[in-house]
Amino acid sequence: MGLSRITMPPKIQLLAVLAFGVAMLLIENQIQRLDESRAKLERTIARHEVAEVELRHGDDDGKREAVLAHEDDAVIIYNRVPKTASTSFTNIAYDLCGKNRFHVLHINTSKNNPVMSLQDQVRFVQNVSAWREMKPAFYHGHVAYLDFSKYGVTRKPMYINVVRDPIERLVSYYYFLRFGDDYRPGLRRRKQGDKKTFDECVSSGGSDCAPEKLWLQIPFFCGHHAECWNVGSKWALEQAKYNLLNEFLLVGVTEELEDFVMILEAALPRFFRGATELYRTGKKSHLRKTTEKKPPTKETTAKLQQSDIWKMENDFYEFALEQFQFVRAHAVREKNGELRW
Ligand SMILES: *[C@@H]1O[C@H](CO)[C@@H](O)[C@H](O)[C@H]1NC(C)=O
Ligand SMILES: *[C@@H]1O[C@H](CO)[C@@H](O)[C@H](O)[C@H]1NC(C)=O
Repeated sequence: MGLSRITMPPKIQLLAVLAFGVAMLLIENQIQRLDESRAKLERTIARHEVAEVELRHGDDDGKREAVLAHEDDAVIIYNRVPKTASTSFTNIAYDLCGKNRFHVLHINTSKNNPVMSLQDQVRFVQNVSAWREMKPAFYHGHVAYLDFSKYGVTRKPMYINVVRDPIERLVSYYYFLRFGDDYRPGLRRRKQGDKKTFDECVSSGGSDCAPEKLWLQIPFFCGHHAECWNVGSKWALEQAKYNLLNEFLLVGVTEELEDFVMILEAALPRFFRGATELYRTGKKSHLRKTTEKKPPTKETTAKLQQSDIWKMENDFYEFALEQFQFVRAHAVREKNGELRW
């Protein structure tokens, strides 16, 4: 057989040598690639080990204590808008604060005015920041957004809030002033005795149901600037949207309160561990219903929707809703209904 190779014609011989050379090159190339991927694998393993070492170090008492201290210094402010089912959520905080070891404090502004005097603003910010014994703290109250960074304190609180369909919120407020609710049934309300329905109010052009009364969620998020309270201000709408995105950790909607509670529990377990369970089991007891509420007719709703003020408040509500749904879509929902990031 060897002889037959030697007797190959020179042309074939040349071809055979060439084929051999090409094959060698291909094999060499493969070996090189294998080498490269082995190196890559080794680097990955090394990185993984580094990450593990860092994780183990994270368990070190020093770092852990720093994280805990940071959490124990946390302040949450829930500047609730009236009639957004906010009491239900606030009650959850009261129910959890003992077990989860945090304090719940009510922000009592003078005359229930959502705008504080400059003097009160400074006092409030300094008091919240310096009051160590109350931290971690959950503050709630009907007060417009306040930018802590303006007052020379180093740490900002985490703001959260809930918004509601603007017409439903106004209807709820209208009947609340007249009939109160089942939460404090004995309390005398400002418009008690007035039997006029919301529909009658709108068709007769009453002031308690005027479109101007819809202007509330925008100024609550916009804050303490004069322009925020200028009914129909485009700047106020933009500022409210800006604050919602940049200054609020999470803004839920009344219509989907359970998901709001779930996401909060996943994001801030230090405060809200057990909140979802509590919300589900206590749904009835946490619900505060305005009694005697009559839903508005289509005509009433259509009339309010013609106003520019409704269009802006609704624009803000839909903006908040879209952002909330975006946050929710990026939380992985597990089978048992628990949310995990
Ligand atoms: C809030 O302050 C007013 C006086 O400004 C007082 O009458 C009222 O009882 C206070 N409410 C709470 C819940 O502390
Ligand atoms: C904050 O204000 C409360 C009364 O409203 C007071 O009892 C408390 O001492 C104040 N805390 C600080 C650190 O100023």
